[in-house]
Amino acid sequence: MPSPEKPAPVPVPMTRGIAFRNVSFKYPGTDKWILRDVSFEVPARSKVAIVGENGAGKTTLVKLLARLYDPVEGEVRFDGRDLREYDLSELRGDVAVVFQDFFRYDLSAADNVGFGEVRALDDRDRIEAAAKQAGAHDIIEALPNGYDTVLGRTFDEGVDLSGGEWQHLAISRAFLSDAQILILDEPTAALDAFREHRLYEQVAELSMNKTVVFISHRFSTVRMADLIVVVEGGHVTEVGDHDALIARDGKYAKMFNTQAARYR
Ligand SMILES: Nc1ncnc2c1ncn2[C@@H]1O[C@H](COP(=O)(O)OP(=O)(O)O)[C@@H](O)[C@H]1O
Ligand SMILES: [Mg+2]
Repeated sequence: MPSPEKPAPVPVPMTRGIAFRNVSFKYPGTDKWILRDVSFEVPARSKVAIVGENGAGKTTLVKLLARLYDPVEGEVRFDGRDLREYDLSELRGDVAVVFQDFFRYDLSAADNVGFGEVRALDDRDRIEAAAKQAGAHDIIEALPNGYDTVLGRTFDEGVDLSGGEWQHLAISRAFLSDAQILILDEPTAALDAFREHRLYEQVAELSMNKTVVFISHRFSTVRMADLIVVVEGGHVTEVGDHDALIARDGKYAKMFNTQAARYR
């Protein structure tokens, strides 16, 4: 991913937000359009949910937002400028992402959290505070060497965590980060609906000044968003808040009602 020779400074604080403008995308070396003419906005400091069925293109959308790829057509704008006008490492430092398949480092628990913000790697107080916010502190304290326990199975002394425990750790990374934009791509799929809901309440409380884009299949979480973006087969088909999309009685309402029926 190239950086421009004379990059624009990343605006802090961001005032206008992020905008997808007629974005179309294919993965390099493939012929299939994965996103087609996608336009929507993420206002600064809003909490936006992306919903859609598996394979719809949700993860691809947030990869473009983090500039892991560039659009083939159209552009993604950050405060009115194409992402390609910014210095890549500065931009990435301002976007914290927790992916579905987040990294599980064969490192200490403290370092696993600290990777959310390299500048905080040696700041145990900050690491513990972030872990507490993400519900990871008690999990870590229960390990044989607490925050110094090496995780993963590569080393003999390594301790492996369950999927849900790893997710709490991965989310601590996001809480530690100074980034203005926080992206959560289903990092809570292994948690039950109640835990996920509680975690997102924490995210909302701690991210008042951040712009948060999250992907979730749980509508109890999704309905809290300021704005919901519905993706179907690479197209954005609906945008609005929960009440507006229920009133519209389209795809979102259908998905919501299907899930609600299962809990009745
Ligand atoms: N690295 C890749 N190379 C080629 N195709 C990919 C790649 N990653 C995802 N895809 C394809 O892009 C489409 C959308 O995937 P994705 O964005 O992961 O959807 P979602 O997150 O909504 O489940 C799928 O058809 C998937 O197979
Ligand atoms: Mg996905």
